[in-house]
Amino acid sequence: MSTASRLSTNPALPQDLIGRVAVVTGASSGMGRATALLLASRGAKVALLARRQPQLDELAAEISRQGGQALAIATDVTDAASVEAAAAAVLREFGNADLVFNNAGLMLPGAIGQQPAKEWETQIDLNVTGAMRVVQAFVPQLEAAAAEGRVVDLINTSSIASQYVYGYFAVYSATKAFVSHLVRHLRLELGPKNIRVSVIEPGITDTELQGHFTFQGAIDWIKNAAQSIDFLKAEDIAATVGFIVSQPKHVNLQQVVIMPTKEGI
Ligand SMILES: NC(=O)c1ccc[n+]([C@@H]2O[C@H](COP(=O)([O-])OP(=O)(O)OC[C@H]3O[C@@H](n4cnc5c(N)ncnc54)[C@H](OP(=O)(O)O)[C@@H]3O)[C@@H](O)[C@H]2O)c1
Repeated sequence: MSTASRLSTNPALPQDLIGRVAVVTGASSGMGRATALLLASRGAKVALLARRQPQLDELAAEISRQGGQALAIATDVTDAASVEAAAAAVLREFGNADLVFNNAGLMLPGAIGQQPAKEWETQIDLNVTGAMRVVQAFVPQLEAAAAEGRVVDLINTSSIASQYVYGYFAVYSATKAFVSHLVRHLRLELGPKNIRVSVIEPGITDTELQGHFTFQGAIDWIKNAAQSIDFLKAEDIAATVGFIVSQPKHVNLQQVVIMPTKEGI
């Protein structure tokens, strides 16, 4: 189930993350993929977690071609056993993780009472329970890394939707409000252990996310928005994660909102 690529680094790239062990969930596309590439390019060993093994293998091969090191681990973050197995694989292959990008997520807008139950259930299972499963599985490794004096980050992807009210986004927005508020509490518990905890709240970003919509109102909304707004790119989110992890050890960027310039609320 896992693919380890060769151990080396690219001397042409900044190598400020050498020695760090990163875990990226949702690494098979979008923000996770771009962030995994960035972290690996700066010298981190990166564990790639998502369900689609072919995409993870392709990404691990690309990182390897660029001189980095990656481990592709097919993982369903809604499945406790799958996440625990992934954590064990990371520990075995790379040692304790010191950087977790808890990012896998799904957005399915829909009208309350009309949306198929499976759609809201899946969002809660992934964005809430899945995010917590990742926290549960990797916090022991983050604590161990912090106890060794290493720089440690737990970065979580929420959304600008966590802060505002958008028609037909009730469940998605509520799942992301969970993530943002969870981070405030995690910081309270983990900060004293020298673990930095951050939340990123992006606006519209051009990824596969909107390709899963089934609600016509949302399909029309995103098509119209694309006419007037230059959406964020996955690489913009990766650069934000890169900035967070490059801070001095005593600096924790708790909450970062990143928006397309032309997107209102
Ligand atoms: N794009 C936006 O406009 C936007 C804005 C704000 C926040 N966000 C948030 O950003 C995060 C990343 O989304 P994205 O925009 O990069 O979308 P994306 O390209 O669709 O990426 C979502 C990732 O989550 C993974 N995933 C889905 N279900 C999973 C599961 N059960 N177990 C493990 N991994 C799973 C997918 O991989 P597999 O299918 O291979 O499992 C994929 O790699 C999400 O939390 C999303 O809510 C997105």
